[in-house]
Amino acid sequence: MEFKHIPVLLNEVIENLNIKPDGKYLDCTVGGAGHSTEIAKKLNKNGILVCFDRDEDAICASSSRLSVFCNVHVLKTVEDFKTFALKSSNKPTAIICKTNYNDCEQVLKELKLEKFDGILIDLGVSSHQIDTAERGFSFRQEAKLDMRMDTSSLLTASDIVNTYTEKELADIFFKYGEEEFSRSIARNIIKEREQKQIETTTQLASIIEKSMPAKIVYSRGGASKKVFQALRIVVNNELEPLSNTIEFLAKSLNFGGRICVITFHSLEDRIAKDVFKELAKTCVCPSNFPKCVCGHTADVKLITKKPIVAGEFEIKENSRSACAKLRVAEKI
Ligand SMILES: C[S@@+](CC[C@H](N)C(=O)[O-])C[C@H]1O[C@@H](n2cnc3c(N)ncnc32)[C@H](O)[C@@H]1O
Repeated sequence: MEFKHIPVLLNEVIENLNIKPDGKYLDCTVGGAGHSTEIAKKLNKNGILVCFDRDEDAICASSSRLSVFCNVHVLKTVEDFKTFALKSSNKPTAIICKTNYNDCEQVLKELKLEKFDGILIDLGVSSHQIDTAERGFSFRQEAKLDMRMDTSSLLTASDIVNTYTEKELADIFFKYGEEEFSRSIARNIIKEREQKQIETTTQLASIIEKSMPAKIVYSRGGASKKVFQALRIVVNNELEPLSNTIEFLAKSLNFGGRICVITFHSLEDRIAKDVFKELAKTCVCPSNFPKCVCGHTADVKLITKKPIVAGEFEIKENSRSACAKLRVAEKI
């Protein structure tokens, strides 16, 4: 199946990255290389683009697309990372790594590439992942409940739905989906489980729909969206490590380098906003101190006080961009 994903806020990301032709860039979520292709086009033969993704389909699609503009190296194992050595080349170099961006500290150390002029994290799932029915991300298409971005990882959505307690399920739906009917959905999952395993996306979607008033089902336009988001977040451990990762990456920038973070829901956006705010603090003295004695200096300055959002035209072309928010910070 062809890898289809329209990059969101593409011009805004490229403008904000201030790309230097011989610079070093890191795309933590390369997907179909929508953003990375535009970065690569601006690099010269000394430019380096490191790309991460934990999805094999993304590694495949991005390496083929980037090979038009770059000398591409695809690295998939710890051994590959350790033995990689940069060679001079007649095109920009793209190093595409199948890895979790939360392991960036270790991977970048192994690659001996520790400082960047620009970094992008475009969070969440790709349209390719959602639209490939058998990946089990979509409540609109019948498939096994899976939702793993890295199909070699162990935990699936089915494991969660079929083994977690009623309280654990309700807590997940509330915390990661902000689902107001979390308790009744969890209760009905347990009831159904007593009769038979919940194996498919559509089976779960119908339990969810039965757990809320009909008028909500119709008004939401996708009654299962919040629960599916919550399950996806847990299956892929999307939120717990994010704050540390953004902090580490922001500190991995060269002076004047920029980090762009694109988020798609309020839980992600709050994390990005809080980390940037913390890194931009010029003083960490307790608030009752009459004057600053900490000598603390900020790591970054905020380029976007308010997040950049998609314009009307982009939203019309790509409805997925409607909830995207871009935050940018610059290393000082
Ligand atoms: C929104 S898509 C990125 C699309 C990309 N910017 C483009 O223009 O094609 C998000 C990608 O991040 C990947 N991803 C999500 N969490 C990840 C993680 N922790 N480590 C590595 N990749 C991750 C997903 O597999 C997916 O391909």
